[in-house]
Amino acid sequence: MKLAETIAQVRDIVKQWKHDGKSVGLVPTMGYLHEGHLSLIERARKENDRVVVSIFVNPTQFGPNEDLDSYPRDLEHDMALCKGAGADLIFHPTPAEMYPKSFCSFVDMDVLTKELCGLSRPVHFRGVCTVVSKLFHIVTPDRAYFGEKDAQQLAVIRRMVQDLNMDIDIVGCPIVREPDGLAKSSRNTYLSPEERKAALVLSRSIFAGKQLAEQGETDATVIRNKMSEIIEAEPLAKIDYVKIVDLNTMQQIPTLDRPFLAAIAVYIGKTRLIDNFMMTQLSNPGGVKS
Ligand code: PAF
Repeated sequence: MKLAETIAQVRDIVKQWKHDGKSVGLVPTMGYLHEGHLSLIERARKENDRVVVSIFVNPTQFGPNEDLDSYPRDLEHDMALCKGAGADLIFHPTPAEMYPKSFCSFVDMDVLTKELCGLSRPVHFRGVCTVVSKLFHIVTPDRAYFGEKDAQQLAVIRRMVQDLNMDIDIVGCPIVREPDGLAKSSRNTYLSPEERKAALVLSRSIFAGKQLAEQGETDATVIRNKMSEIIEAEPLAKIDYVKIVDLNTMQQIPTLDRPFLAAIAVYIGKTRLIDNFMMTQLSNPGGVKS
């Protein structure tokens, strides 16, 4: 496994791979890898001849009062995990390599980025779209892998690729959870033992909402109320949002009559965590209770 810190190094390596007829999978990450990331790398390993993992804490997707400086970092440990999961190349650029002083071009998106996390993190998706499109241009992958935990991010990236005619397959991979249900996240490391216990309200709320939808409940308000009630019972939890949106537009829907995303963002103490469930195949597509 190789480590590249410059764009030129990555381009040289990938050029040779392409010359040899190899397919390339990219797993973009911000490092501090966990089993969720490893599932993406392992999937990329199965589906491509070569696998690149980018590790870059992207400053443009953090707002002024967010956790850019405290975001956990451990390159050595990440490299060992990447090697174990079968990565061929790690791209670990400096912020100056990705954003030289003269940098002034951004990729912005309307509609999909204005709901859910976009409301409380107004610059976030502009930063994500910008860095991901830069990574796509640098690595020129055939496929790129993203976790479904960041469901809005996945939808935004799919739309960017479609709108800007990028010839890359976007592969979404299922949420990986701790044995007690908490979705894996690099930000879980911020939680104190007491907060870690309290954080279980996220998955409890998701599982309860999903169960109602699977039982045929089609009223989004009924499901949202149940999910909110579970979170509100935990004194350490503060809801940012509990919403049910059209999976393609990210706009709120009153009735579960189309593929949808039920998404939550909750502060546990100072740590903001997200979780979700999606349904693409509806048992009752007319949205009428039987
Ligand atoms: O999901 C993440 O870790 C980041 O948003 C990504 C896609 C690597 C872009 O910085």
